[in-house]
Amino acid sequence: MMKKQAIIVANWKMHKTAAEAASFIKAVAASVQDGAPDSLLFAVPFTAIQAAVDAASGSSIKIGAQNMHEAEQGAYTGEISAAMLHEAGASFVILGHSERRRLFGESDVRIRAKVKRALASGLRPLLCIGETLEEREAGEIEQVLERQLESAFEGLSYLELERLLIAYEPVWAIGTGLSATPSMAQEAHRICRAFLEKFGAGFVPLLYGGSVKAEMMRELMAEKDIDGVLVGNAALQLGSLLQIINWRNL
Ligand code: 13P
Repeated sequence: MMKKQAIIVANWKMHKTAAEAASFIKAVAASVQDGAPDSLLFAVPFTAIQAAVDAASGSSIKIGAQNMHEAEQGAYTGEISAAMLHEAGASFVILGHSERRRLFGESDVRIRAKVKRALASGLRPLLCIGETLEEREAGEIEQVLERQLESAFEGLSYLELERLLIAYEPVWAIGTGLSATPSMAQEAHRICRAFLEKFGAGFVPLLYGGSVKAEMMRELMAEKDIDGVLVGNAALQLGSLLQIINWRNL
């Protein structure tokens, strides 16, 4: 049987200057140059995109952003457009991260518009979904995940759906050190997979995020519907990220 490949995405959030990003990514690129078995992506701050793209050149590492505005352009002081990100060399963009939903009031409708705009501008959306602790305790996981997926998918063609990446990030597990167990993550991924299959898009990669650490990788990746991980804290230090990248050797 062919070994499953992992998609490993680092979400740096509001960490690292352009100079810090460049030296970090050069170090990662040097250590994976002998043909990494997995895909490696970095979602970096806007100001670090160009430096990160330069640092990654010649490697298979891909660079992306963590957010964007849904309008093509306009009077939106302080915002950034998909075309700007694309020009800077981003190939993907995280959309609907729970920190954007919770701290910046992003609605499902807004996230849908962002997904549409990202696709139209040549960026691959990495759509984040996930339930809060209250929703989990109320037994609403399935409704929440399906609502978030359904809303983001509205109006997308099959060819557009095909380009998505999806991350299941239970809100209670983000930055808390409380990770979902592999079987809890698998159960949520199964729900997402079944939903995707209704659209004939069961192949869309499903990543798990929420306090991911190297020692969980083997068990997570052994789950049928987990195709990779979205990593926050553990992706900020070279040592811990390299351990995640080298998860097969742990
Ligand atoms: P942590 O890995 O720090 O929990 O962050 C997860 C996350 O939000 C990735 O997008």
